[in-house]
Amino acid sequence: MLSISSCLFTLHLAALVASVPALSSVSSAASAHAVSAVSSVAPVASSTSSAAEPTATVPFASTNPNLPLWGLDSGDPEPVRGSLGAPILGPDNIPMDHENPDLFAPPTSDAGSVQVWPFSLSHNRLQTGGWARQENIGVLPMATSIAGVNMRLEPGAIRELHWHSTSEWAYVLSGTTQVTAVNADGQNFLANVGPGDLWFFPPGIPHSLQATNESAEGSEFLLARRFHEDDTFLLTDWLAHVPAEVIQKNFQANPEAFSHIPDQELYIFPSTPPPIDATAPSSPQGGVPNPYSFAMSQINATQHSGGTVKIVDSTTFTVSTTIAAAEVTVEPGAIRELHWHPTMDEWSFFLEGQGRVTIFAAQGNARTFDYQAGDIGFVPTAMGHYVENIGNTTLKYLELFNSDRFQDISLNQWLALTPPALVKAHLQLSDQTIASLSKTKPVVVGPST
Ligand SMILES: *[C@@H]1O[C@H](CO)[C@@H](O)[C@H](O)[C@H]1NC(C)=O
Ligand SMILES: *[C@@H]1O[C@H](CO)[C@@H](O)[C@H](O)[C@H]1NC(C)=O
Ligand SMILES: *[C@@H]1O[C@H](CO)[C@@H](O)[C@H](O)[C@H]1NC(C)=O
Repeated sequence: MLSISSCLFTLHLAALVASVPALSSVSSAASAHAVSAVSSVAPVASSTSSAAEPTATVPFASTNPNLPLWGLDSGDPEPVRGSLGAPILGPDNIPMDHENPDLFAPPTSDAGSVQVWPFSLSHNRLQTGGWARQENIGVLPMATSIAGVNMRLEPGAIRELHWHSTSEWAYVLSGTTQVTAVNADGQNFLANVGPGDLWFFPPGIPHSLQATNESAEGSEFLLARRFHEDDTFLLTDWLAHVPAEVIQKNFQANPEAFSHIPDQELYIFPSTPPPIDATAPSSPQGGVPNPYSFAMSQINATQHSGGTVKIVDSTTFTVSTTIAAAEVTVEPGAIRELHWHPTMDEWSFFLEGQGRVTIFAAQGNARTFDYQAGDIGFVPTAMGHYVENIGNTTLKYLELFNSDRFQDISLNQWLALTPPALVKAHLQLSDQTIASLSKTKPVVVGPST
């Protein structure tokens, strides 16, 4: 049910993106408003005595709560919000509308355009032993810094020995995957990586992935890396494209030795499950100095009033220099606070529950999206956003960044650490409200009392 409706959901999104005239008329109206606001505010800026009266020049923002108007299994989707819109008369895809109340009847605070992608709409590559589907700039053009792959291996199945020009970060969703690698110094690595745990291979480091039979189903995982169409180098693909005479000479082997190698890539293929207690072959150069896996499931999450956060970046997972990650839980009604990431794009993946996110893209642009498990979100560098749990179960998702460090700026903390008179002049908050701003980051807050 989820996958079908997610598919439908993005077709709807494609239609939205195609309706550029409608979108640009919204945003040009918004920017016209912004321009007139700026020009009429300008004289006030030179007058400190009237600094506490900015609403003399612009109206108050709406106090409409702008809640989602229906849920996954509840309510009657209609493109109507208050006095805006009108009931639909023509054909319509109701399951898709159920998943996306904030596209079909957007909050009145929305304007402009941003993007989202569910894996359910990705082409899936089915192989004997598993499958893989990917999200990249071909389907989500905005997400230039991180691309995702969702991969499944049956017990014993192998994602063949390969390397990339980019690094590979992974989060195991289910089962255990045995990974191997060898670095440029001839040091090697082997580990079993279980649910909620990570691996990371730096650019160019050759590696393999194989599901163990610890789980009868094998394993499934999420991969994230910068995507280039042709940057995955497979062992079999390479050897199938080298003259046989060269292979013999290279390995000093007789003509028979390499007479049964595949004539094309294997990619994913079935095999015997590896021993769970396997170790890497002994290397005269030793093992890699810093492990390529990290037991994220074993670290303690930081508890906040509305949920928890685990952060793993290169400060703890030394080799992970191009991806920083946070695993976040948000309890029903709670919210990952209004924030932004100063220098990094955020690529997010929803693991459980239902979330609502508004991305503020500056210049009057903001768009609200509803997310389910399996959906991918992308927030470009510095864009303000929040993640609200609008379901009845814990919302769990990953935030990934193209960076060696996790960093965020909290709106609440920023205002708390700014001179109160300055905050008051902008927002007309009471002294009591200003005093209750938080000088430490709330991170995940609520539900409000
Ligand atoms: C799992 O794989 C190992 C190693 O191949 C094998 O010895 C064991 O019997 C397998 N267990 C099951 C339950 O298939
Ligand atoms: C995690 O929390 C448990 C229980 O509070 C504590 O005993 C343990 O020492 C903590 N582990 C780390 C690595 O902080
Ligand atoms: C949450 O539970 C309430 C009461 O059982 C129900 O009315 C509502 O539709 C549920 N919301 C979602 C998003 O499942």
